[in-house]
Amino acid sequence: MTIPTEKGISSRAKELEQLLAAVTQRSVAYVARADEPSARIGDPVPPKQLACILGHHLNLPNVGGGQPEFLDVLDEILRHSVVTWHPGFMDKLYASTNPVGVATDLLLSILNTNSYIYSVAPALTLIEKKTSHEYAKLFGFTSPWSGGITLPGGSSSNTHSLIVARTILYPDTKLKGNGDYKFVIFTSRHGHYSVEKAAISLGLGSESVWAIPVDSDQRMRVDILEEKILEAKERGFTPLYINATAGTTVYGSYDPFEEIAVISKKYGLWFHVDGSWGGNVVFSDKLRYKLKGVELADSLTVNPHKMLGVPLTCSFLLAPDHRIFQKASSLRAPYLYHSDVTDGEDFDMGDSTMGCGRRADSLKLFLGWKWYGKDGYAARVEQAFSVTAHLANLVSNRPGFCLISSNPPPCLQTCFYYSPRGHPLENDAEYNTKVTRAISYELQASGRFLVDYAPPTEADGKGEFFRAVVNAPTTTMETVEELVDAIERIGKTLKL
Ligand SMILES: Cc1ncc(COP(=O)(O)O)c(C=O)c1O
Repeated sequence: MTIPTEKGISSRAKELEQLLAAVTQRSVAYVARADEPSARIGDPVPPKQLACILGHHLNLPNVGGGQPEFLDVLDEILRHSVVTWHPGFMDKLYASTNPVGVATDLLLSILNTNSYIYSVAPALTLIEKKTSHEYAKLFGFTSPWSGGITLPGGSSSNTHSLIVARTILYPDTKLKGNGDYKFVIFTSRHGHYSVEKAAISLGLGSESVWAIPVDSDQRMRVDILEEKILEAKERGFTPLYINATAGTTVYGSYDPFEEIAVISKKYGLWFHVDGSWGGNVVFSDKLRYKLKGVELADSLTVNPHKMLGVPLTCSFLLAPDHRIFQKASSLRAPYLYHSDVTDGEDFDMGDSTMGCGRRADSLKLFLGWKWYGKDGYAARVEQAFSVTAHLANLVSNRPGFCLISSNPPPCLQTCFYYSPRGHPLENDAEYNTKVTRAISYELQASGRFLVDYAPPTEADGKGEFFRAVVNAPTTTMETVEELVDAIERIGKTLKL
């Protein structure tokens, strides 16, 4: 049977074939352009100006324009989007994906199924369970029950881990809420903001998150953590949860997991590791030492959509025993979840989350892992660390630059200042911030680089500094050499 399309094309398959051919041609040309020497990442256009440029393309019509309209808009979107496939895209903790990623995303769209229940996503459910289990094993969660679930991003995984922690440690809260508990959450002062947002979502308020100072390597001070737990108890609070980070957002530091695990056990807190960014060093036998002690965690977030180039979004929340997720979240809504879970094995993945409909994000890691293998992912991560070390060396050896990351940096961010007036760095936070922002803007305007900057913290209050992220395999040794040259060139022409 063929079902004709509303546009009169003889079948849905034919319409798909025509549209995909047109989209493929444009997509391939777009990726090819990103590799040309003259490629531009994009142009910094303010929102109102861009709205004018896009003009009628932003209008939503009464009468649909079909494929011609679709392709017109697609061209505009490609023209006015940031090219994350460009080697100079060093702004964020992710970059472009890869052909297998694009193809898998397409497959998910074709299947367009919902991985909340087994009956509508049978193969994808088994893939999610198997991938989670193998991933968990890499982190040292070796029990046959180890595994987890995917959630739409690291923030979501962190939030869910807090829900699980509260419910498992204080089961009455699932029914009664926070009641009289005054829960406290501990994270290093470099922890991601999602921990505070999670506290807000759970009705604990952002003040329930106590930020623990860091040492000179930007790692959580475990002695102060213990002091703060004792202080909380003394003041009538209930210490609930410690978030340790594997790869902090700005500096890339890895907290001392083994020592934190000891403290969490001693005082009966939940120990969560946020490895959204830096967790994927787990694939590399050379770099895995950074994660020493994560196997002692009660839960762990890790995002293949960051360091591994898996398409957004793909985030896993893993645990030594995945049954905690169902236990903490399940309501067994009888109009949806029908499978038998008496042996503890749940194949209706949605019931282990706070959501309902869900995209089968695990397939993106599963097929990427099949394509590249563990060794391929290890090579990717190790290459990125080598390029980062090269950038840190360049920065530490050039006059005018001042490296503030350790050398080599703990993860793939290199944090540094540049001062056109030369070394040593100005003790003028306002001036340094102006220089950083102006150069960052000019780098973007040149079309060659996108590099973010970060605000000062108490310990390094010399103004905003550059945070350049190496995304392998896109960012190469040559890319970072060009970046340092470009900063120097722009810096010399700055008039501040
Ligand atoms: C350490 C850390 N945790 C959590 C997140 C949030 O992850 P997502 O953007 O997937 O929500 C980030 C984002 O950069 C991060 O750096």
